[in-house]
Amino acid sequence: MSERVLLKNMRSDCGPVGFDEYRQLGGYEALERAVRTMTPDEVINMVTESGLRGRGGAGFPAGRKWGFVRKDAPHPRYIQSNTDEMEPGTFKDRVLVNTDPHLVIEGITMAAYAVQADVAVFFIRPSYNDDAELIERELSAAREAGMLGKNILGSDFSFDIEVHRSAGRYICGESSAQANAIMGKRPNPDKTGHMTSSGLWGMPTVVNNVETLAHVPHIIRNGVEWFKGLAATPTGDGTKLYCVSGEVVDPGCYELPMGTRLGDIIFEHAGGMLPGAEFKTCIPGGASTSFVTQAQLATPMDFDSMKAAGLSLGTGSIVVFDKNTCLVQATINILTYFARESCGWCTPCRDGIPYMLSLLQDIEAGDGTEADVKRLETVAAGMAHAYCGFAPGAASTVKGLLRSFRDEVREHLDGRGCPFGDMEKPKPGDWKVLDRDAS
Ligand SMILES: Cc1cc2nc3c(=O)[nH]c(=O)nc-3n(C[C@H](O)[C@H](O)[C@H](O)COP(=O)(O)O)c2cc1C
Ligand code: SF4
Repeated sequence: MSERVLLKNMRSDCGPVGFDEYRQLGGYEALERAVRTMTPDEVINMVTESGLRGRGGAGFPAGRKWGFVRKDAPHPRYIQSNTDEMEPGTFKDRVLVNTDPHLVIEGITMAAYAVQADVAVFFIRPSYNDDAELIERELSAAREAGMLGKNILGSDFSFDIEVHRSAGRYICGESSAQANAIMGKRPNPDKTGHMTSSGLWGMPTVVNNVETLAHVPHIIRNGVEWFKGLAATPTGDGTKLYCVSGEVVDPGCYELPMGTRLGDIIFEHAGGMLPGAEFKTCIPGGASTSFVTQAQLATPMDFDSMKAAGLSLGTGSIVVFDKNTCLVQATINILTYFARESCGWCTPCRDGIPYMLSLLQDIEAGDGTEADVKRLETVAAGMAHAYCGFAPGAASTVKGLLRSFRDEVREHLDGRGCPFGDMEKPKPGDWKVLDRDAS
Protein backbone atom coordinates (compact mmCIF):
# COMPACT_ATOMS: atom_id res chain seq x y z
CA MET A 1 0.00 0.00 0.00
CA SER A 2 1.58 3.33 -1.03
CA GLU A 3 1.62 6.37 1.23
CA ARG A 4 -1.42 8.63 1.16
CA VAL A 5 -0.64 12.29 1.51
CA LEU A 6 -3.46 14.50 0.23
CA LEU A 7 -6.12 12.05 1.38
CA LYS A 8 -4.32 10.81 4.50
CA ASN A 9 -6.90 12.43 6.79
CA MET A 10 -9.86 10.84 4.95
CA ARG A 11 -12.40 9.79 7.58
CA SER A 12 -14.14 6.43 7.52
CA ASP A 13 -17.49 8.19 6.97
CA CYS A 14 -15.85 10.26 4.17
CA GLY A 15 -17.08 13.46 5.89
CA PRO A 16 -14.86 16.56 5.83
CA VAL A 17 -12.19 17.05 8.50
CA GLY A 18 -13.10 20.14 10.57
CA PHE A 19 -10.73 22.79 11.92
CA ASP A 20 -10.04 21.26 15.39
CA GLU A 21 -9.45 17.78 14.00
CA TYR A 22 -7.15 19.17 11.29
CA ARG A 23 -5.14 21.04 13.94
CA GLN A 24 -4.82 17.87 16.07
CA LEU A 25 -3.51 16.03 13.00
CA GLY A 26 -0.70 18.57 12.57
CA GLY A 27 -2.60 20.92 10.28
CA TYR A 28 -1.41 24.54 9.94
CA GLU A 29 2.02 23.61 11.41
CA ALA A 30 3.59 24.16 7.99
CA LEU A 31 1.96 27.59 7.71
CA GLU A 32 3.18 28.42 11.21
CA ARG A 33 6.70 27.36 10.29
CA ALA A 34 6.61 29.35 7.05
CA VAL A 35 5.32 32.65 8.42
CA ARG A 36 7.45 32.49 11.60
CA THR A 37 10.74 31.03 10.41
CA MET A 38 10.96 31.16 6.60
CA THR A 39 11.23 33.97 4.08
CA PRO A 40 8.87 33.92 1.08
CA ASP A 41 11.88 33.08 -1.14
CA GLU A 42 12.72 30.07 1.01
CA VAL A 43 9.20 28.73 0.50
CA ILE A 44 9.46 29.30 -3.27
CA ASN A 45 12.88 27.60 -3.40
CA MET A 46 11.67 24.57 -1.50
CA VAL A 47 8.64 24.14 -3.76
CA THR A 48 10.86 24.61 -6.83
CA GLU A 49 13.36 22.01 -5.62
CA SER A 50 10.56 19.56 -4.85
CA GLY A 51 9.72 19.49 -8.57
CA LEU A 52 5.98 20.02 -7.85
CA ARG A 53 4.17 20.45 -11.16
CA GLY A 54 0.71 21.89 -11.70
CA ARG A 55 -2.12 19.37 -11.45
CA GLY A 56 -4.58 21.43 -13.54
CA GLY A 57 -3.44 19.70 -16.74
CA ALA A 58 -0.41 21.48 -18.15
CA GLY A 59 2.12 20.38 -15.52
CA PHE A 60 3.91 23.73 -15.20
CA PRO A 61 6.39 23.79 -12.26
CA ALA A 62 4.64 25.55 -9.37
CA GLY A 63 7.74 27.11 -7.76
CA ARG A 64 8.91 28.52 -11.09
CA LYS A 65 5.53 30.16 -11.68
CA TRP A 66 5.62 31.76 -8.22
CA GLY A 67 9.13 33.03 -8.96
CA PHE A 68 7.74 35.04 -11.91
CA VAL A 69 6.05 37.47 -9.48
CA ARG A 70 8.59 40.27 -9.20
CA LYS A 71 9.69 41.20 -5.70
CA ASP A 72 8.87 44.86 -6.38
CA ALA A 73 5.53 44.08 -8.07
CA PRO A 74 2.65 46.27 -6.89
CA HIS A 75 -0.16 45.28 -4.51
CA PRO A 76 -2.80 43.98 -4.26
CA ARG A 77 -1.55 40.65 -5.56
CA TYR A 78 -3.93 37.77 -6.12
CA ILE A 79 -4.14 33.99 -6.10
CA GLN A 80 -6.75 32.16 -8.20
CA SER A 81 -7.32 28.77 -6.64
CA ASN A 82 -8.76 26.80 -9.52
CA THR A 83 -11.56 24.35 -8.62
CA ASP A 84 -13.50 24.78 -11.84
CA GLU A 85 -13.09 21.08 -12.70
CA MET A 86 -15.38 20.84 -15.72
CA GLU A 87 -13.14 18.38 -17.58
CA PRO A 88 -15.36 15.32 -18.20
CA GLY A 89 -14.24 12.34 -16.13
CA THR A 90 -12.55 14.54 -13.51
CA PHE A 91 -13.75 14.75 -9.91
CA LYS A 92 -10.48 14.75 -7.90
CA ASP A 93 -10.71 18.38 -6.71
CA ARG A 94 -14.15 17.74 -5.32
CA VAL A 95 -12.91 14.70 -3.39
CA LEU A 96 -9.98 16.71 -2.04
CA VAL A 97 -12.07 19.71 -0.95
CA ASN A 98 -14.64 17.44 0.66
CA THR A 99 -12.06 15.36 2.49
CA ASP A 100 -9.72 18.01 3.84
CA PRO A 101 -10.92 21.59 3.28
CA HIS A 102 -8.29 23.01 5.66
CA LEU A 103 -5.45 21.35 3.76
CA VAL A 104 -6.67 23.29 0.73
CA ILE A 105 -7.00 26.51 2.75
CA GLU A 106 -3.52 26.04 4.23
CA GLY A 107 -2.05 25.35 0.77
CA ILE A 108 -3.61 28.48 -0.72
CA THR A 109 -2.36 30.56 2.22
CA MET A 110 1.18 29.23 1.85
CA ALA A 111 1.23 30.05 -1.87
CA ALA A 112 -0.01 33.50 -0.92
CA TYR A 113 2.80 33.88 1.63
CA ALA A 114 5.34 32.81 -1.00
CA VAL A 115 4.29 35.53 -3.46
CA GLN A 116 3.06 37.94 -0.76
CA ALA A 117 -0.48 37.93 -2.14
CA ASP A 118 -3.24 39.88 -0.45
CA VAL A 119 -6.38 38.04 -1.56
CA ALA A 120 -7.24 34.67 -3.11
CA VAL A 121 -10.31 33.86 -5.13
CA PHE A 122 -11.45 30.30 -4.62
CA PHE A 123 -13.09 29.70 -8.03
CA ILE A 124 -15.51 26.77 -8.04
CA ARG A 125 -18.03 25.37 -10.51
CA PRO A 126 -21.67 26.02 -9.61
CA SER A 127 -22.64 22.35 -9.46
CA TYR A 128 -20.22 22.07 -6.52
CA ASN A 129 -22.35 24.39 -4.41
CA ASP A 130 -22.24 22.08 -1.37
CA ASP A 131 -18.45 22.21 -1.53
CA ALA A 132 -18.53 25.99 -1.92
CA GLU A 133 -20.66 26.23 1.21
CA LEU A 134 -18.33 23.85 3.04
CA ILE A 135 -15.31 25.98 2.15
CA GLU A 136 -17.14 29.15 3.23
CA ARG A 137 -17.90 27.58 6.64
CA GLU A 138 -14.32 26.36 7.10
CA LEU A 139 -12.89 29.72 5.99
CA SER A 140 -14.81 31.31 8.86
CA ALA A 141 -13.33 28.77 11.28
CA ALA A 142 -9.81 29.45 9.97
CA ARG A 143 -10.37 33.22 10.24
CA GLU A 144 -11.60 32.93 13.83
CA ALA A 145 -8.48 30.95 14.73
CA GLY A 146 -6.15 33.57 13.22
CA MET A 147 -5.06 31.48 10.19
CA LEU A 148 -6.53 34.07 7.83
CA GLY A 149 -7.11 37.80 8.03
CA LYS A 150 -4.88 40.47 9.55
CA ASN A 151 -1.48 39.46 10.94
CA ILE A 152 -1.80 35.73 10.43
CA LEU A 153 -0.49 33.81 13.48
CA GLY A 154 0.84 37.07 14.88
CA SER A 155 3.11 37.68 11.87
CA ASP A 156 3.29 40.66 9.53
CA PHE A 157 1.50 38.68 6.85
CA SER A 158 -2.18 39.52 6.18
CA PHE A 159 -4.28 37.67 3.63
CA ASP A 160 -7.81 36.39 3.03
CA ILE A 161 -9.74 34.08 0.70
CA GLU A 162 -13.08 34.70 -1.05
CA VAL A 163 -15.25 32.09 -2.74
CA HIS A 164 -16.44 32.79 -6.30
CA ARG A 165 -19.01 30.48 -7.88
CA SER A 166 -18.58 30.12 -11.63
CA ALA A 167 -21.53 30.72 -13.94
CA GLY A 168 -20.72 27.23 -15.25
CA ARG A 169 -18.78 27.12 -18.52
CA TYR A 170 -15.81 24.86 -19.19
CA ILE A 171 -13.70 27.72 -20.53
CA CYS A 172 -13.86 29.40 -17.09
CA GLY A 173 -11.26 26.83 -16.00
CA GLU A 174 -8.65 28.41 -18.29
CA SER A 175 -6.67 30.86 -16.17
CA SER A 176 -7.16 34.11 -18.13
CA ALA A 177 -10.81 33.34 -19.00
CA GLN A 178 -11.31 32.70 -15.30
CA ALA A 179 -9.85 36.10 -14.47
CA ASN A 180 -12.31 37.70 -16.90
CA ALA A 181 -15.17 35.76 -15.29
CA ILE A 182 -14.14 36.94 -11.81
CA MET A 183 -14.00 40.54 -13.04
CA GLY A 184 -17.55 40.22 -14.41
CA LYS A 185 -16.45 40.24 -18.05
CA ARG A 186 -17.23 37.76 -20.82
CA PRO A 187 -14.94 34.78 -20.07
CA ASN A 188 -12.76 34.70 -23.18
CA PRO A 189 -9.17 33.68 -22.73
CA ASP A 190 -6.80 36.64 -22.96
CA LYS A 191 -3.23 35.92 -24.03
CA THR A 192 -2.08 39.53 -24.30
CA GLY A 193 -0.03 39.44 -21.09
CA HIS A 194 1.26 37.19 -18.30
CA MET A 195 -1.04 36.60 -15.37
CA THR A 196 1.87 36.79 -12.93
CA SER A 197 2.45 40.43 -13.87
CA SER A 198 -0.99 41.47 -15.12
CA GLY A 199 -3.89 39.25 -14.08
CA LEU A 200 -6.93 40.20 -12.02
CA TRP A 201 -7.57 43.94 -12.36
CA GLY A 202 -4.16 44.25 -14.03
CA MET A 203 -2.33 43.11 -10.89
CA PRO A 204 0.06 40.15 -10.33
CA THR A 205 -1.97 36.95 -10.12
CA VAL A 206 -0.91 33.36 -9.58
CA VAL A 207 -3.28 30.64 -10.79
CA ASN A 208 -2.97 27.14 -9.41
CA ASN A 209 -5.12 24.07 -9.28
CA VAL A 210 -6.25 23.13 -5.74
CA GLU A 211 -4.53 19.75 -5.94
CA THR A 212 -1.24 21.53 -6.66
CA LEU A 213 -1.75 23.89 -3.72
CA ALA A 214 -2.67 21.10 -1.29
CA HIS A 215 0.79 19.54 -1.75
CA VAL A 216 2.57 22.64 -0.43
CA PRO A 217 2.02 22.21 3.37
CA HIS A 218 3.28 18.61 3.08
CA ILE A 219 6.41 19.67 1.18
CA ILE A 220 7.24 22.33 3.79
CA ARG A 221 6.57 19.93 6.69
CA ASN A 222 8.32 16.83 5.33
CA GLY A 223 10.98 18.16 2.98
CA VAL A 224 11.98 18.00 -0.65
CA GLU A 225 13.60 14.55 -0.63
CA TRP A 226 10.58 12.98 1.05
CA PHE A 227 8.30 14.48 -1.64
CA LYS A 228 10.49 13.32 -4.51
CA GLY A 229 10.66 9.84 -2.99
CA LEU A 230 6.88 9.47 -3.11
CA ALA A 231 6.83 9.22 -6.91
CA ALA A 232 7.04 5.90 -8.76
CA THR A 233 9.35 7.30 -11.45
CA PRO A 234 12.35 9.66 -11.50
CA THR A 235 10.28 11.99 -13.72
CA GLY A 236 7.32 11.96 -11.32
CA ASP A 237 6.68 14.30 -8.39
CA GLY A 238 4.90 13.27 -5.18
CA THR A 239 1.54 11.58 -5.33
CA LYS A 240 -1.34 12.13 -7.76
CA LEU A 241 -5.10 11.93 -7.43
CA TYR A 242 -6.17 9.68 -10.32
CA CYS A 243 -9.89 9.39 -11.11
CA VAL A 244 -11.21 6.23 -12.74
CA SER A 245 -14.67 5.86 -14.28
CA GLY A 246 -16.34 3.80 -17.00
CA GLU A 247 -16.54 0.03 -17.25
CA VAL A 248 -14.50 -0.84 -14.15
CA VAL A 249 -15.40 -2.69 -10.96
CA ASP A 250 -14.38 0.08 -8.53
CA PRO A 251 -14.64 3.54 -10.07
CA GLY A 252 -13.30 6.26 -7.80
CA CYS A 253 -10.50 8.65 -6.90
CA TYR A 254 -7.19 6.97 -6.04
CA GLU A 255 -4.18 8.69 -4.53
CA LEU A 256 -1.11 6.87 -5.86
CA PRO A 257 2.55 7.60 -6.54
CA MET A 258 2.90 9.94 -9.53
CA GLY A 259 4.06 7.69 -12.36
CA THR A 260 1.95 4.64 -11.45
CA ARG A 261 1.41 2.69 -14.66
CA LEU A 262 -1.90 3.31 -16.42
CA GLY A 263 -2.72 -0.41 -16.59
CA ASP A 264 -2.01 -0.85 -12.87
CA ILE A 265 -4.41 1.95 -11.96
CA ILE A 266 -7.19 0.32 -14.00
CA PHE A 267 -6.59 -3.35 -13.31
CA GLU A 268 -5.16 -3.32 -9.76
CA HIS A 269 -6.56 -0.29 -8.02
CA ALA A 270 -9.91 0.12 -9.81
CA GLY A 271 -10.51 -3.63 -9.78
CA GLY A 272 -10.31 -4.24 -13.55
CA MET A 273 -13.14 -4.57 -16.00
CA LEU A 274 -16.74 -5.22 -14.98
CA PRO A 275 -17.86 -8.85 -15.33
CA GLY A 276 -18.45 -9.58 -19.02
CA ALA A 277 -16.62 -6.45 -20.15
CA GLU A 278 -13.33 -6.48 -22.05
CA PHE A 279 -10.87 -3.57 -22.20
CA LYS A 280 -10.81 -1.77 -25.52
CA THR A 281 -9.30 1.62 -24.72
CA CYS A 282 -9.45 4.51 -22.28
CA ILE A 283 -8.87 8.22 -22.23
CA PRO A 284 -6.15 8.75 -19.63
CA GLY A 285 -6.48 12.36 -18.52
CA GLY A 286 -10.01 13.67 -19.06
CA ALA A 287 -11.92 14.31 -22.30
CA SER A 288 -9.16 16.49 -23.77
CA THR A 289 -6.72 13.58 -24.02
CA SER A 290 -6.67 10.88 -26.69
CA PHE A 291 -7.60 7.19 -26.74
CA VAL A 292 -4.77 4.85 -25.76
CA THR A 293 -3.89 1.41 -27.11
CA GLN A 294 -3.40 -1.81 -25.13
CA ALA A 295 0.36 -1.43 -25.57
CA GLN A 296 0.28 2.03 -23.98
CA LEU A 297 -1.19 0.64 -20.76
CA ALA A 298 2.37 0.11 -19.55
CA THR A 299 3.03 3.88 -19.63
CA PRO A 300 3.81 5.52 -16.28
CA MET A 301 1.22 8.20 -15.57
CA ASP A 302 3.49 11.20 -15.06
CA PHE A 303 3.79 14.26 -17.28
CA ASP A 304 7.07 13.37 -19.03
CA SER A 305 6.46 9.63 -19.48
CA MET A 306 3.04 10.28 -20.99
CA LYS A 307 4.48 12.90 -23.33
CA ALA A 308 7.24 10.54 -24.42
CA ALA A 309 4.54 7.96 -25.29
CA GLY A 310 2.70 10.53 -27.45
CA LEU A 311 -0.01 10.96 -24.81
CA SER A 312 -0.80 13.54 -22.16
CA LEU A 313 -1.45 13.18 -18.46
CA GLY A 314 -4.06 15.97 -18.41
CA THR A 315 -5.95 15.75 -15.14
CA GLY A 316 -5.03 12.07 -14.68
CA SER A 317 -8.70 11.11 -14.99
CA ILE A 318 -9.19 7.81 -16.75
CA VAL A 319 -12.41 6.83 -18.53
CA VAL A 320 -12.45 3.14 -19.50
CA PHE A 321 -14.29 1.73 -22.54
CA ASP A 322 -15.41 -1.82 -23.18
CA LYS A 323 -14.86 -3.65 -26.50
CA ASN A 324 -18.54 -3.16 -27.47
CA THR A 325 -18.31 0.63 -27.31
CA CYS A 326 -18.33 2.35 -30.70
CA LEU A 327 -15.51 4.88 -30.51
CA VAL A 328 -17.08 7.01 -33.25
CA GLN A 329 -20.10 7.36 -30.97
CA ALA A 330 -17.89 8.02 -27.96
CA THR A 331 -16.07 10.76 -29.88
CA ILE A 332 -19.37 12.29 -31.01
CA ASN A 333 -20.41 12.37 -27.39
CA ILE A 334 -17.23 14.14 -26.31
CA LEU A 335 -17.26 16.60 -29.23
CA THR A 336 -20.89 17.50 -28.54
CA TYR A 337 -19.73 18.73 -25.15
CA PHE A 338 -16.80 20.67 -26.59
CA ALA A 339 -18.92 22.23 -29.36
CA ARG A 340 -21.30 23.51 -26.72
CA GLU A 341 -18.55 24.79 -24.44
CA SER A 342 -16.45 26.66 -27.06
CA CYS A 343 -16.35 30.32 -26.05
CA GLY A 344 -16.72 31.29 -29.74
CA TRP A 345 -13.77 33.70 -29.77
CA CYS A 346 -11.74 32.16 -32.62
CA THR A 347 -12.77 30.50 -35.88
CA PRO A 348 -10.87 27.17 -35.79
CA CYS A 349 -12.63 26.26 -32.56
CA ARG A 350 -16.02 27.96 -33.00
CA ASP A 351 -16.60 26.51 -36.49
CA GLY A 352 -14.12 23.64 -36.60
CA ILE A 353 -15.51 21.63 -33.69
CA PRO A 354 -19.12 21.59 -35.00
CA TYR A 355 -17.69 20.70 -38.44
CA MET A 356 -15.72 17.74 -37.03
CA LEU A 357 -18.87 16.72 -35.19
CA SER A 358 -20.99 16.81 -38.36
CA LEU A 359 -18.37 14.72 -40.22
CA LEU A 360 -18.42 12.14 -37.44
CA GLN A 361 -22.23 12.10 -37.40
CA ASP A 362 -22.20 11.41 -41.16
CA ILE A 363 -19.65 8.63 -40.67
CA GLU A 364 -21.69 7.11 -37.83
CA ALA A 365 -24.83 7.16 -40.01
CA GLY A 366 -23.03 5.40 -42.88
CA ASP A 367 -22.99 8.56 -45.01
CA GLY A 368 -19.24 9.10 -44.67
CA THR A 369 -16.46 8.45 -47.18
CA GLU A 370 -12.68 8.11 -47.03
CA ALA A 371 -12.53 11.78 -48.10
CA ASP A 372 -14.48 12.70 -44.93
CA VAL A 373 -11.93 10.86 -42.80
CA LYS A 374 -9.16 12.91 -44.45
CA ARG A 375 -11.17 16.12 -43.89
CA LEU A 376 -11.59 15.17 -40.25
CA GLU A 377 -7.86 14.66 -39.93
CA THR A 378 -7.08 18.04 -41.54
CA VAL A 379 -9.54 19.96 -39.38
CA ALA A 380 -8.29 18.23 -36.21
CA ALA A 381 -4.72 19.21 -37.09
CA GLY A 382 -5.90 22.81 -37.68
CA MET A 383 -7.03 23.06 -34.05
CA ALA A 384 -3.40 23.73 -33.13
CA HIS A 385 -3.93 27.24 -34.59
CA ALA A 386 -6.75 28.15 -32.22
CA TYR A 387 -6.34 30.92 -29.65
CA CYS A 388 -6.21 28.76 -26.51
CA GLY A 389 -5.69 25.19 -25.35
CA PHE A 390 -9.39 24.35 -25.48
CA ALA A 391 -9.50 23.45 -29.20
CA PRO A 392 -6.35 21.24 -29.34
CA GLY A 393 -7.79 19.46 -26.28
CA ALA A 394 -11.11 18.94 -28.06
CA ALA A 395 -9.26 17.57 -31.11
CA SER A 396 -7.31 15.02 -29.06
CA THR A 397 -9.99 12.35 -29.06
CA VAL A 398 -10.47 12.75 -32.83
CA LYS A 399 -6.71 12.44 -33.38
CA GLY A 400 -6.51 9.37 -31.12
CA LEU A 401 -9.48 7.82 -32.93
CA LEU A 402 -7.87 8.26 -36.34
CA ARG A 403 -4.39 7.26 -35.17
CA SER A 404 -5.24 4.10 -33.24
CA PHE A 405 -8.75 3.04 -34.33
CA ARG A 406 -8.86 4.05 -38.00
CA ASP A 407 -10.02 0.62 -39.10
CA GLU A 408 -13.03 0.92 -36.83
CA VAL A 409 -13.87 4.29 -38.43
CA ARG A 410 -13.51 2.74 -41.91
CA GLU A 411 -15.95 -0.03 -41.02
CA HIS A 412 -18.64 2.69 -40.86
CA LEU A 413 -18.00 4.17 -44.33
CA ASP A 414 -19.77 3.99 -47.67
CA GLY A 415 -23.27 3.10 -46.53
CA ARG A 416 -22.27 0.47 -43.98
CA GLY A 417 -23.10 2.50 -40.87
CA CYS A 418 -22.24 1.62 -37.31
CA PRO A 419 -21.16 -1.99 -36.69
CA PHE A 420 -22.10 -1.57 -33.02
CA GLY A 421 -25.73 -0.57 -33.60
CA ASP A 422 -27.45 2.80 -33.81
CA MET A 423 -26.41 5.58 -31.55
CA GLU A 424 -28.99 6.58 -28.98
CA LYS A 425 -31.08 9.37 -30.49
CA PRO A 426 -30.98 12.72 -28.66
CA LYS A 427 -33.90 13.12 -26.29
CA PRO A 428 -36.07 16.27 -26.24
CA GLY A 429 -34.13 18.92 -24.33
CA ASP A 430 -30.71 17.48 -25.31
CA TRP A 431 -28.51 20.19 -26.71
CA LYS A 432 -28.47 20.49 -30.51
CA VAL A 433 -25.06 21.23 -31.93
CA LEU A 434 -25.84 24.01 -34.37
CA ASP A 435 -28.79 25.51 -32.51
CA ARG A 436 -26.79 28.11 -30.59
CA ASP A 437 -29.86 29.99 -29.33
CA ALA A 438 -30.94 26.92 -27.40
CA SER A 439 -27.74 26.64 -25.37
C1 LIG B 1 -9.98 25.03 -21.71
C2 LIG B 1 -9.20 24.90 -20.47
C3 LIG B 1 -9.84 24.53 -19.28
C4 LIG B 1 -9.12 24.42 -18.10
N1 LIG B 1 -9.78 24.03 -16.96
C5 LIG B 1 -9.08 23.92 -15.80
C6 LIG B 1 -9.73 23.54 -14.59
O1 LIG B 1 -10.94 23.27 -14.55
N2 LIG B 1 -8.99 23.47 -13.47
C7 LIG B 1 -7.63 23.76 -13.46
O2 LIG B 1 -7.00 23.71 -12.41
N3 LIG B 1 -7.00 24.11 -14.59
C8 LIG B 1 -7.69 24.21 -15.74
N4 LIG B 1 -7.04 24.59 -16.88
C9 LIG B 1 -5.61 24.97 -16.78
C10 LIG B 1 -5.48 26.41 -16.29
O3 LIG B 1 -5.52 27.28 -17.41
C11 LIG B 1 -4.16 26.65 -15.54
O4 LIG B 1 -3.10 26.21 -16.35
C12 LIG B 1 -4.10 25.90 -14.21
O5 LIG B 1 -5.21 26.18 -13.39
C13 LIG B 1 -2.83 26.31 -13.50
O6 LIG B 1 -2.69 25.58 -12.31
P1 LIG B 1 -1.57 24.48 -12.12
O7 LIG B 1 -0.29 25.06 -12.64
O8 LIG B 1 -1.56 24.26 -10.65
O9 LIG B 1 -1.99 23.28 -12.89
C14 LIG B 1 -7.73 24.69 -18.09
C15 LIG B 1 -7.09 25.06 -19.28
C16 LIG B 1 -7.80 25.15 -20.45
C17 LIG B 1 -7.09 25.53 -21.71
S1 SF4 C 1 -9.92 27.91 -28.80
FE1 SF4 C 1 -12.15 27.89 -28.43
S2 SF4 C 1 -12.35 28.29 -26.26
FE2 SF4 C 1 -10.25 28.96 -26.86
S3 SF4 C 1 -10.48 31.12 -27.46
FE3 SF4 C 1 -10.81 29.95 -29.32
S4 SF4 C 1 -13.06 29.72 -29.39
FE4 SF4 C 1 -12.54 30.26 -27.30
